[in-house]
Amino acid sequence: MKLKVITSNPGKVAEYQRSFADLGIEMEHYRLPYDEVQTSDLEEVVQKGMDEIIRKGVRDFIIDDSGLFVDALKGFPGVWSAYAQKTIGNQGILKLMEGVEDRGAEFRCCIGCDIDGRRIVVMGRCRGFIIEKEQGDGGFGFDPIFSPDGKLTFAEIPIEEKNTMSHRGNAVKLLIEELKK
Ligand code: IMP
Repeated sequence: MKLKVITSNPGKVAEYQRSFADLGIEMEHYRLPYDEVQTSDLEEVVQKGMDEIIRKGVRDFIIDDSGLFVDALKGFPGVWSAYAQKTIGNQGILKLMEGVEDRGAEFRCCIGCDIDGRRIVVMGRCRGFIIEKEQGDGGFGFDPIFSPDGKLTFAEIPIEEKNTMSHRGNAVKLLIEELKK
């Protein structure tokens, strides 16, 4: 069995290859642009993306979308995480959170998989806190301002450990459970 990983990010393909090697599913990188609908719902972005890819005649693939949802900001930046990261960045998020007591936040990752004509959509979550200032120089994106336990940030936690608790790691676990059924 072979699945196309439709993304512009080769790093994601390598991650999926590692996670699915034991299931005997081969992952290949496939570049196909598709529209990300304007909605505040991650799952809707993935469902509509899958519809469009299938309309283009492509089957047996995986797509995903993830983001950081901050409780006190009513879920912002959420589906706009990549844009927020490029524009206001971590400092911008910290500025919005100045003086805010409720520091709760959640990373979410939605994976859509089309396999043998079957559609599987799973949502992995990781709850944590937006800390007061950037900490650590590992990871990427919001890692230096997000801490799963309020102590160490994702930028200070080794990648293997992050994968055991992260939104993406949890989504992959859910997808593997579904595929084994
Ligand atoms: P994507 O949909 O996986 O490309 O993620 C969208 C945006 O969410 C990225 O550009 C990052 O800013 C942010 N993001 C997603 N996952 C993570 C993570 O594990 N750590 C930090 N930032 C993340």
